[in-house]
Amino acid sequence: MKKHIVVIAGDGIGQEVTTVGKQVLDRIAEKFGHEFTYDEALIGHAAIEATGNPLPEETITKSKQSDAILFGAVGHPKYDNDPSAKVRPEQGLLGIRKALGLYANLRPIKLFDELLQASSIKPEFLQGADILFFRELTGDVYFGEKGRKDGGDTAYDLMIYSRYEVERIAVKAFDAAMTRRKKLCSVDKANVLESSRLWREVVQEVAKRYPEVEVEHQFIDAAAMLLIKDPRRFDVVVTGNLFGDILTDEASQIAGSMGMLASASIGDTTGLYEPIHGSAHDITGKGVANPLASVLSAALMLEISFGMKAEAEAVVDAVDQVLKAGFRTRDIADSNTPADLILGTEAMGKQLLSKL
Ligand code: NAI
Ligand code: MG
Repeated sequence: MKKHIVVIAGDGIGQEVTTVGKQVLDRIAEKFGHEFTYDEALIGHAAIEATGNPLPEETITKSKQSDAILFGAVGHPKYDNDPSAKVRPEQGLLGIRKALGLYANLRPIKLFDELLQASSIKPEFLQGADILFFRELTGDVYFGEKGRKDGGDTAYDLMIYSRYEVERIAVKAFDAAMTRRKKLCSVDKANVLESSRLWREVVQEVAKRYPEVEVEHQFIDAAAMLLIKDPRRFDVVVTGNLFGDILTDEASQIAGSMGMLASASIGDTTGLYEPIHGSAHDITGKGVANPLASVLSAALMLEISFGMKAEAEAVVDAVDQVLKAGFRTRDIADSNTPADLILGTEAMGKQLLSKL
């Protein structure tokens, strides 16, 4: 098959991990006889430096013409501590999600058995945990009206959802539940927020079309607690943009590290595949970032955008083999990991390619 992929590596460790993700795609193409062509595009701080715009028009055009996007991360310390900055890297990421209509963000939380010890949660609560998050990605407080009033001393961000927005993500989540353990948990804050009451109402309506799916509703605060208390109780979780952002960082501890979690952003057009982590300034340039989240994002691309199930499985299997062989990046190493098995980003990539 011929596929055209746009690589948007972005900032910080986005550059480092995406390099490995792309190498894995190349190897898959070679191994399975596909032809993948690539283009690159700018976003975030890198784009601001080059063009003044965190999301250049060219990036959108190239993305729309692609079959899929391999994305890294955006962000730079310069903006994190400067609340007055008007042009910010994150505008690039939110902008591309909106421009491409990527309203559904799938975040599988899969624990590789070898990483049971890497998590800060006790192994007996973790073994077998397997959750698929559906985070709504183009609505909520991230896209609602925001601003300042009272001469700048009062600030607001509007949390807003429409029936249409909730329904389309709920349908995606229910469809997925039907292919899994047929359990769905919808997370909101309907005891307090009107937008959450609409969310719950719509999920209840959609649920009627899926009588086989066992549905529960949890408030975000309780869901955050249950996720750590008993991760295995969850199958599919559907939630809004803000709650999904926070809950999945928390859920990364179920999989051992932020560096293990991949995501697929899908909608009506091209899919975008990215790790859930950010640009990680604290480790940028040190060559220690875990590339597996990017590699597993590439696997999601193969499966979801290209329908290449065997190819995707080959990638996941290679990750499994590398972990079974004992190799770790720093973030997933534990006190028993021998120093010579703790690899940097590049060396981890080499091990993966050798297994492929
Ligand atoms: P972060 O996700 O970049 O990092 C959080 C922690 O996890 C850090 O200690 C980091 O070292 C570690 N970590 C993340 N990915 C890792 C990997 N692959 N291997 C090993 N360790 C890893 O979040 P943080 O530090 O809050 O934000 C840093 C910058 O990233 C900020 O500018 C923020 O705005 C941006 N950001 C961008 C996102 C995106 O592009 N999707 C998402 C979240 C934050
Ligand atoms: Mg996040």
